[in-house]
Amino acid sequence: AGTVPFRGAHQAGIVTAAQDRMHFVAFDVITDSREKLVSLLKTWTSMAERMSQGLQATQDGATGSGEYSPPDDTGEALGLDPSQLTITIGFGPGLFAGAPVTPAEGEGRFGIAARKPAALEQMPRFMLDALDPARSEGDLCIQACANDPQVAVHAVRNLARVGFGVVAVRWSQLGFGRTSSTSTGQETPRNLFGFKDGTRNIKAEDTDAVDRFIWVDGADDQPWMAGGSYLVARRIRMRIEPWDRTTLHEQERVFGRDKGSGAPLGQDDEFDPLDLQSKGPNGLLIDEDAHVRLASAEQNGGIRILRRGYNFTDGSDGLGHLDAGLFFIAYCRDPQKQFVPLQDALSRNDLLNEYISHVGSAVFAVPPGVSSGDDYWGSGLF
Ligand code: HEM
Repeated sequence: AGTVPFRGAHQAGIVTAAQDRMHFVAFDVITDSREKLVSLLKTWTSMAERMSQGLQATQDGATGSGEYSPPDDTGEALGLDPSQLTITIGFGPGLFAGAPVTPAEGEGRFGIAARKPAALEQMPRFMLDALDPARSEGDLCIQACANDPQVAVHAVRNLARVGFGVVAVRWSQLGFGRTSSTSTGQETPRNLFGFKDGTRNIKAEDTDAVDRFIWVDGADDQPWMAGGSYLVARRIRMRIEPWDRTTLHEQERVFGRDKGSGAPLGQDDEFDPLDLQSKGPNGLLIDEDAHVRLASAEQNGGIRILRRGYNFTDGSDGLGHLDAGLFFIAYCRDPQKQFVPLQDALSRNDLLNEYISHVGSAVFAVPPGVSSGDDYWGSGLF
């Protein structure tokens, strides 16, 4: 109990029932040595597998490496339950770029330019984007999710610690309160605007949708990505104070759903289908520019994504406002064909835009899961 299997065809932390807490970190790779990078990926894989089982990051752990060297594990998770910890890695576009190390090793900083998937492109600039470069992009990412925040933070801290000299933390984000359910067994949680979030998300049990919209197929693009996925992260600031001064009617019009029950406007139950056609006394039941209409598969040629985001509150902004919002994470089989057209449509017309602002953005190729023996994260790429 409390443990999510680390190995498998796919990495854990994607269709795994969303845990309550998250620590997400993006790194820059600061070495040009392919050998050092591969060696770190191997070390990380072994540490991540151990920590997912509730073990210390290495065998020596917090106290076993002697009095005269820094402990091998930072120690703050000693005695804590594994708390469903999952650790998921992604590779950013920058990992594939740069000058070749030596001509013999091929193109790109690590000789892997030819293996860059076409689907792995930095996001285009969307309307109203207000991106902070210091909170965007990255060569590698780690998503650690757990039901105990200390367990998630411990995982990221220990991976970052052993990465010294190879990677440097570019930005990181803590999240609390999952904003999506990813399994039919989960109650739908609420985001910071107080609405149920994740009702019409892809659920792990819907294996047809999972295969069609989340997992990369070997024939899609780069064969090493088969069984992997792509992660799009967007730090979305939510304008809490103006929202809190908005009437209930307007709040419900913005989303197209009832605040209490989560039902689509005009329906009774949370899981009733959206009625996108019918009119009520004041026009369409679900506004032409309501968030759920513009984001729906019906409106977007059948496109769906897996949402797996978290609420965040990073204190206040010095101007009397909460620095709060949604750390949006989407998994999809091809971000160019799924996230990009969806966000393009939302960025133009979504009623929600008055109350939100996208301030960070990143995309990563998430390789398949680790198989048996000495397999490691990204072995297919190097
Ligand atoms: C649906 C909130 C941003 C994609 C929903 C729902 C809520 C919500 C309350 C209705 C419940 C549900 O079906 O999950 C928010 C908030 C956002 C945000 C507060 C920003 C702070 C985004 C972004 C995307 C997105 C950036 C993708 C580019 C979707 C999709 C649905 C959805 C695909 C399901 C629509 C349907 O088929 O009914 N969102 N969302 N959302 N949202 Fe968002």
